[in-house]
Amino acid sequence: MPEDTPITISQSSDGTMYVPGSEIVENANVTAYMKQKGFQSYHDLYEWSVRNPQEFWADQANELEWYQRWEKVLDESNAPFYKWFVGAKTNIIHNALDRHVKTWRRNKLALIWEGEDATRRTFSYQGINREVSKIASVLKSMGVKRGDIVTIYLPRIPELMFCMLACAKIGAAHSVVYGGFSVEALADRIEDAQSKLLITADGGFMRGKVVELKNIADEAMARTPSIQTCIVVRRTGHEVNMESGRDLWMHDLLALPIASEKCETVPVDSEETLFILYTSGTTGRPKGVVHTHGGYMVGTYATLKYVFDIKEEDRWWCAADPGWITGHSYIVYSPLIAGATSFMYEGAPNYPYPDRWWSMVARYGISILYTAPTAIRGLMRFGEAWPNRHDLSSLRLLGTVGEPINPEAWRWYYRVIGGERCPIMDTWWQTETGHFMITPTPVVPLKPGTATRPFLGVETDVVHEDGASCGANEDGLLVIKRPWPGMLRTILNDPERYKNSYFERVPGVYTVGDSARKDEDGYTWIIGRLDDVIKVSGYRLGTAEVESALVSHHDVAEAAAIGLPHELKGNAIHSFVILRAGVEGTPQLEEELKAHVAHEMGPIARPEKITFVSTLPKTRSGKIMRRVLKAQALGQDVGDISTLES
Ligand code: WTA
Repeated sequence: MPEDTPITISQSSDGTMYVPGSEIVENANVTAYMKQKGFQSYHDLYEWSVRNPQEFWADQANELEWYQRWEKVLDESNAPFYKWFVGAKTNIIHNALDRHVKTWRRNKLALIWEGEDATRRTFSYQGINREVSKIASVLKSMGVKRGDIVTIYLPRIPELMFCMLACAKIGAAHSVVYGGFSVEALADRIEDAQSKLLITADGGFMRGKVVELKNIADEAMARTPSIQTCIVVRRTGHEVNMESGRDLWMHDLLALPIASEKCETVPVDSEETLFILYTSGTTGRPKGVVHTHGGYMVGTYATLKYVFDIKEEDRWWCAADPGWITGHSYIVYSPLIAGATSFMYEGAPNYPYPDRWWSMVARYGISILYTAPTAIRGLMRFGEAWPNRHDLSSLRLLGTVGEPINPEAWRWYYRVIGGERCPIMDTWWQTETGHFMITPTPVVPLKPGTATRPFLGVETDVVHEDGASCGANEDGLLVIKRPWPGMLRTILNDPERYKNSYFERVPGVYTVGDSARKDEDGYTWIIGRLDDVIKVSGYRLGTAEVESALVSHHDVAEAAAIGLPHELKGNAIHSFVILRAGVEGTPQLEEELKAHVAHEMGPIARPEKITFVSTLPKTRSGKIMRRVLKAQALGQDVGDISTLES
């Protein structure tokens, strides 16, 4: 971007709002759409979009290619099992790859990847298409077909993206398990999906060390019998155990004649399952959230286009992991659908030095950076000198996701990284929503700490338990008032859980699980989760999973986990443990239990502190009252404990 471009945003006179400059507003994709629809303001466009959501979403769908057009935009006849673009035939890969390789974009850079060890790989659209076709051909000849769920457990390398795309191409579903998860988490997910095929790697690099993914996968496969074949990608080159008859190297398979560069994309129904992504819920095991081809493709594409204002010449960096929803939607699928150039980085943000990220922004000319508050807080503590060494003037937009951003981190990001010229898109959404739901676009005045207003076509509210709207600045439940195209369709193998997790607490609307308040300008401020979900460094974990990992240790009789505020991580896990009779709670045992949780669940779930106790507060029906533990830990009033077991 030329240095003299007057792209400015300024603070309003009362100091509360950051108002985008006219340059930003005039050039925004959303302004072009507003004009095309004949509206004078974004507000009018929004009002129209929520009065005519089907027309709005159909407009977006019309920008993409379909093998066969839909008969109906939305089918609500079997609510809450909604269907979008009913009767249409498509495949997300057609829009992500096939349609681009037919045009000049075949030679456009699609992906720039940098390994933590500074290895660099780049792929054009044609290049990705070739890799994906070869993997898809191999999977097909191994018998993978529609209806199968392939589990993928890979580090942040291009093959992670290619394997996901290859599954979609042949109409199979993928279930990606985050590479930072460990044995129990992986085994549980494989078992629930009944996967026969697992794709993993000989390891990945993180902070200069190798993460032993194959060893973890071996332990997980020993615990669950469904996997028949395990394909191993070579990343680190160090030795791993290969079980004959089960384990195969990806590079050996890709060298076989079956790995054809020509592989037809399978046309599927708009409502065909694209992927399963497990996420933590209120109780029990993680839920397999089901997403489908058609609606998800339209929703992720439209949100990227209007919120991050993606243009042909942009260099987009979503610094999440592809193993979480942010990576699925905004690293793997929507940037390709939009024909963008993406950047992906394998390792830790501060390795080997705290300016690793900033040096990459400068070296690759990143124009849009999307990350999480925890990463900003983490890098902020090293001081301004690190980013100031680098020319960050290529940036024009910034973004954040995962948890509320504290205004201090927002201002640092805005001033030090964005040079006071880049609007920050604070996007609120969930694994279940598939794409952004409450978010500014570049034309919306911003306030640090709020995701502002619902996206076009989306209507949200903050309500009391009885469904009545809360007044301004009153805390309540965040709800979404009508279906949207990228919404989850069900929970794998558990449609009842889908219904009662989201649609029963407040009848007729989708209940999010967050508490929130709307201010006098109609901006939504997220307060936090209402259930037993803990956001640690923006990662979503369930208390139940941590507790189950703890009680799988032979010395533990019972355990409870809660989240307590933490300066960098947002929240940290604190556990309370009742030991088996005769076992003594020593500092060594505390360390052993922390290591045990990290081994079973992954390092992100490692408790910050474990307290040995002799009883846990429970309701008369035996449920642990985590609320009481939390209040006690924070030195607060424990509130109504009349249902406490006596
Ligand atoms: C929280 C991540 C405040 C929220 C995409 C939500 C946020 C949960 C924001 C979903 C934000 C996400 N501001 N809170 N901008 N974005 N959250 O499924 O509590 O990992 O319910 O999806 O993250 O987490 P999930």
